Amino acid sequence: MNLLVTGGAGFIGTNFVRYIMNRRPGWAVTVLDKLTYAGRRENLSEFEGSPGYRFIQGDICDPEAVREAMDGCSGVVNFAAETHVDRSIDDPSSFVKTDVEGVRVLLEEFRKEDSRKMFLQISTDEVYGSVENGRSGEGDPLCPRSPYSASKAGGELLAMSYFTTFGVPVTVTRASNNYGPYQYPEKLIPLFITNAFEAEKLPLYGDGGNMRDWLFVDDHCSALVAVLERGRPGHIYNVGDGQELTNTEVTTAIIEATGADGNLVRHVEDRLGHDRRYAVDISKLQRELGWKPETDFATGISATVNWYRENSRWWKSIKSGEFREYYRKMYSEKLENSERIR
Ligand code: NAD
Ligand code: DAU
Repeated sequence: MNLLVTGGAGFIGTNFVRYIMNRRPGWAVTVLDKLTYAGRRENLSEFEGSPGYRFIQGDICDPEAVREAMDGCSGVVNFAAETHVDRSIDDPSSFVKTDVEGVRVLLEEFRKEDSRKMFLQISTDEVYGSVENGRSGEGDPLCPRSPYSASKAGGELLAMSYFTTFGVPVTVTRASNNYGPYQYPEKLIPLFITNAFEAEKLPLYGDGGNMRDWLFVDDHCSALVAVLERGRPGHIYNVGDGQELTNTEVTTAIIEATGADGNLVRHVEDRLGHDRRYAVDISKLQRELGWKPETDFATGISATVNWYRENSRWWKSIKSGEFREYYRKMYSEKLENSERIR
């Protein structure tokens, strides 16, 4: 397999490239990444100069960059996206551009070669919208409710339309919330871990009762390899773990694992349109591809906290840069108005 991994310098992409380089030594990997605020080339510096590894800085919306990067590739895994729901509420434009138009540019280049094997579009369980009861199956209607999830739904629908219309071998995965090393500290788990280390407040949205299904990133990577090797074109696979937790439960686990003071928690004004719960039915992936997740939340959160403890240079350099202005804009008013709960 000669893979193009777009967005390979982001959180899941970094873990996925490392997973492939270590466990599929015969595969070649080209990373195409724009290096937005969320991407870091140095995450993968250990592979620079390795046979079969190539890094190209470029935008998936740029046909020239995509042509160069896809040359000789038999498969594409498209991680490249704008990914943070709060940023999509603040300004959706880059989400529509990258998460929809970028997918079109990739698909147009991909379909020029008939011999290519798989275009794997990485989507999200957020396309189902908030699920009050039960679990979303792959055939359920889509009901995205944020600019982020609407853009991701647009991207995956466009990808599937290339399967139907042009016979392009597209497969889509819809994963639940990932956590683990190298996650940019804007997302709940790395934000709260790093804030806890710095004795900063932990801004919990609303009543803290929103539920997510937490998937350790290596388990997501093993699912994606199973899909690349045995998944069927034209099919959609949910990926999740069934480890449903409220945000309050996640916060408590982080406080315990970091040893932080529980008084740091603040209930702040809720996210606009905040989806209450996501939960996916993963029986198709288990039944058809024999995949199962291996990391329970207690083990995964402890490994994640340890990684952030041991890699403080990584996240401190992020938090001391433009992130400061982002944090001030998104949180200072919320925190000023917050109610102290403990
Ligand atoms: P991330 O924000 O950490 O990384 C995104 C990467 O894409 C960055 O390296 C960034 O530089 C790159 N990128 C952004 N715009 C680009 C463009 N126009 N051209 C090229 N590169 C570009 O994201 P992540 O959390 O690793 O998510 C990766 C993928 O998985 C996304 O498609 C996301 O929607 C999906 N997903 C994420 C989760 C999760 O919990 N993190 C769950 C389900 C699905
Ligand atoms: O479900 C998959 C999705 O998971 C991915 O597609 C997205 O790319 C990824 O960002 C993630 O989306 P969420 O919005 O669920 O993740 P986030 O970490 O932003 O928030 C998780 C929960 O924590 C959510 O209910 C909002 C809450 N939260 C988040 C932040 C950043 C807080 O309470 N406080 C916060 O400061």
